[in-house]
Amino acid sequence: MYRTKYNGTLRKENIGERVQLVGWVAKKRNFGQLCFIDLRDTTGICQLVFDEEIAPQVKDVRNEYVIEAEGVVEGRKDVNPNMPTGEIEVIVDRVKIINTAKTTPLIIADDTDALEDTRMEYRYLDLRRPIMQERLKTRAAISRSFRSYLDNHGFLEVETPMLGKSTPEGARDYLVPSRVHPGSFYALPQSPQLYKQLLMIAGLDKYYQFARCFRDEDLRADRQTDFTQVDIETSFLSEQEIMDFTEEMLCTMMKEVKGIDVPRPFLKLSWNDAMNLYGSDKPDNRFGMVFEDLGALFAKSEFPVFQGVETIKGFKAEQFHASNKEVKKLTELVKKNGGKGLVVFKMAEGKLSGPARKFMSDEEEKRLIEAFDAHDGDTIFIVADEWRKACTALGALRNEIGARKGLKDPSEFSFLWVVDFPMFEWSEEEGRYVSEHHPFTMPKSEDLPLLDSDPSLVKTNAYDIILNGYELGGGSMRIYDNALQKKIFKILGLSDEDIQNKFGFFVDAFQYGTPPHGGLALGFDRVAMIVAQTDSIRDVIAFPKNAAAKCPMSKAPTPVDQKQLEELHIAVTERE
Ligand code: AMO
Ligand code: AMP
Repeated sequence: MYRTKYNGTLRKENIGERVQLVGWVAKKRNFGQLCFIDLRDTTGICQLVFDEEIAPQVKDVRNEYVIEAEGVVEGRKDVNPNMPTGEIEVIVDRVKIINTAKTTPLIIADDTDALEDTRMEYRYLDLRRPIMQERLKTRAAISRSFRSYLDNHGFLEVETPMLGKSTPEGARDYLVPSRVHPGSFYALPQSPQLYKQLLMIAGLDKYYQFARCFRDEDLRADRQTDFTQVDIETSFLSEQEIMDFTEEMLCTMMKEVKGIDVPRPFLKLSWNDAMNLYGSDKPDNRFGMVFEDLGALFAKSEFPVFQGVETIKGFKAEQFHASNKEVKKLTELVKKNGGKGLVVFKMAEGKLSGPARKFMSDEEEKRLIEAFDAHDGDTIFIVADEWRKACTALGALRNEIGARKGLKDPSEFSFLWVVDFPMFEWSEEEGRYVSEHHPFTMPKSEDLPLLDSDPSLVKTNAYDIILNGYELGGGSMRIYDNALQKKIFKILGLSDEDIQNKFGFFVDAFQYGTPPHGGLALGFDRVAMIVAQTDSIRDVIAFPKNAAAKCPMSKAPTPVDQKQLEELHIAVTERE
């Protein structure tokens, strides 16, 4: 037997008990003849005391050695209020060195200045840091809560294939060559979308799966190549019923994992309002700085930038000062997000100032101050452009200012729904419509005639769940009519032949009694990231990829043996 207790669990109730402990040496201090070791395991740290008799046995012990120690729990004279085990210590009378350790390339402590790539190269050491273990434990707790909710509400867990056919979620597929069928490829699932709809046709009624998904896309702090969805699909439920159980599941989790009561129902914003008010389809409404439409106010503007433009919008940042240099940077940010420029007015002594002030009449100034109820020290930001561009550019600016003003409190959790998304977005790049969600999303019944006249105006029964400015998940009611599904594929530019090749099995299935169905998928890593109060999903994934889609530890992806390639009938034509 290695141990009788875990280090982090000992309390003053244990005083007088004889215990046997194992763990890693977190810290060793010598005090004359005495020696103290902080021993760490997954539950925490406990102070061990070695008197002059036994101290020589640990003379060579260094940080991260694995040791076993036996002794009696005693009360500490100088209690350490910062440690859960700070009231006790263990007076060791037997010790065994189980294993030695090299000096670690990073310090095993919550605070680290190690580069992220170093942390990922030695991930097994990074994961030894208590803060990282806490995050993985939070992730597991969320998983437990979701599973128990779904299991208790009649959802059946079903697994779907990893090696399948590509499903169109909009990202690039990871392909897996078939050895048996030279020249043919499996695709790793971007999501189990088609399979879960087929499970509804199969009559399984309520499905869920913790589904591993794979997308070959540029990585960001909230994106990984392989990630996990809590994937859900239901039959014969309305959009509202689906949103209701999702809210209940999330609130149950917040209570169980964080002890927080999140009020329901969640706010519901139409996509139009989300864009208009926050300039984002995933608005962070932990803070205000909501946009005002200034088109009417500047209808007769002398300022060329404001003339003949579709939309003029702005917001006020209260008590926010930006130097000229900072204004330049903020203007760059707006441009990076598709805006043409940024008009900035600062308020001081009841007046607005800024380079564009000279183009504004006194009357316009007065009305602008009124529109925003601006006070000395406030700054007003304005963008003029096509509607979507103006919203998006201003939205990026709002997020930046919110962060600078420290308004993104990670201990606040603000959920909301964005609904009524457009069905299609025109892709300049591809010269065709692409799906805003995916092609299986049900258009709003009242918008069906628009499919023939102006597809860009068609709205859908789709919904995204947003938390603190992140898209936590998304879903929709699905098309269950074969003819309508084919029509959508056609608008997306797929020929009959394409449809048959790509989705033949899927559209065929629709002819055998398809129930009305709908569902959603939560990005599980993102849920864990926000609940664990970090800003990178890499913090809640045991072995993540870096921003260049590489694993610094295993070095994947790597070249493979020529023999392996030959077996797969693959020739590599070019290497970086
Ligand atoms: P969608 O593509 O919106 O919908 O994905 C659902 C959720 O998955 C998360 N997510 C990601 N998380 C980490 N890294 C990524 N690369 C990544 N991509 C997506 C997001 C997102 O909201 N089949 C549909 C769902 C449905 O209609 O039921 C789908 O996959 O949190
Ligand atoms: P310009 O006319 O390009 O010299 O721009 C004059 C000022 O207006 C600069 O501060 C620009 O950043 C700003 N500006 C230019 N275009 C826009 C626009 N579409 N919306 C808001 N500000 C703009």
